[in-house]
Amino acid sequence: MDIKTIGVLTSGGDAPGMNAAIRAVVRYGLTKEFRMVGVERGYHGLLRGEFIEMDAASVCDLIQRGGTVLQTARSKLFPTPEGIAQAVKAAKDYGIDALIVIGGDGSFRGAQKLCENGLPTIGIPGTIDNDISCTEYTIGYDTALNTAMEAVDKIRDTATSHQRCSLIEVMGRNAGYIAVDVALATGAEMVIVPEKDKNTSKVDLVTRIVKDIEAGQKVGKKHHIVIIAEGVGDSQKLAEMIEECSDVETRATVLGHIQRGGSPTIRDRVIAAQMGMRAIDLLTEGKSNRVVIVKNGMIDDVDIDEGLAMKKSISEYKYCLVGNLSRGV
Ligand code: F6P
Repeated sequence: MDIKTIGVLTSGGDAPGMNAAIRAVVRYGLTKEFRMVGVERGYHGLLRGEFIEMDAASVCDLIQRGGTVLQTARSKLFPTPEGIAQAVKAAKDYGIDALIVIGGDGSFRGAQKLCENGLPTIGIPGTIDNDISCTEYTIGYDTALNTAMEAVDKIRDTATSHQRCSLIEVMGRNAGYIAVDVALATGAEMVIVPEKDKNTSKVDLVTRIVKDIEAGQKVGKKHHIVIIAEGVGDSQKLAEMIEECSDVETRATVLGHIQRGGSPTIRDRVIAAQMGMRAIDLLTEGKSNRVVIVKNGMIDDVDIDEGLAMKKSISEYKYCLVGNLSRGV
């Protein structure tokens, strides 16, 4: 594998720290004397040949910025055999010998297909959800947690003043990682995640929440904060049902895309820098079809096929700790 030119793209939902990763990939790639090319709008841009030359100056003033300067987009054509062939051809025609893909599981499946079709790829995990099984950490997670934590702290002020129950819905797609960590960090009374309650009926959920509210009232609690992962669904309806079944005013707040934006935290910037470097090192060593990961707290890497087959789950210990600490028993 004789690599002279490396492309880099961001794919899937943007995440704070993606820009720091782009900067690291480009600057470190340049020190290794690669020609560096940015691919705009993810795989959509790849198959349309939306390429820009990237020199050291092109990534100035980027490390602290949220979002992704390369932009991201969803492509219906890309995952098809024609789309993959078109993407590989567009890359090769422009002289791109290998590609670094910053994104989530779906993006890595695309990277795997590109590799199978002759374009070496390396994945860097970037998503606020932290739901990529092969890695302990994904770029953007810490920033999203901090954003959600600050929002919950604010909601708590008003919930306490009004002695209300507040249902606060956080992102995470089908996973509850954000919900559990935010619940622990904010001292929430309860956390509800899809891993436990995706199939629980609304009536059962409301019964459990109302029981918990009553237990809280007995020990003098002035609010009831429930962090609910979006994968459980319909927090507005749940809030209405809680009000109907209890004497407690209840409000639902969906934090939404605020969690995806903002300046990345130090953790996201540092991990992004390290992952970017490792991706370039892997290509320099002639390796491809790998994902850069965090394993036992250290930067590592794993074969994409193996990585995609792995499973991880929320920590049972942390999940139980939310309720235990809130009750003090
Ligand atoms: O994967 C990141 C994420 O923000 C999820 O938490 C959420 O389910 C999804 O993306 C939202 O996607 P979109 O921005 O396309 O609505």
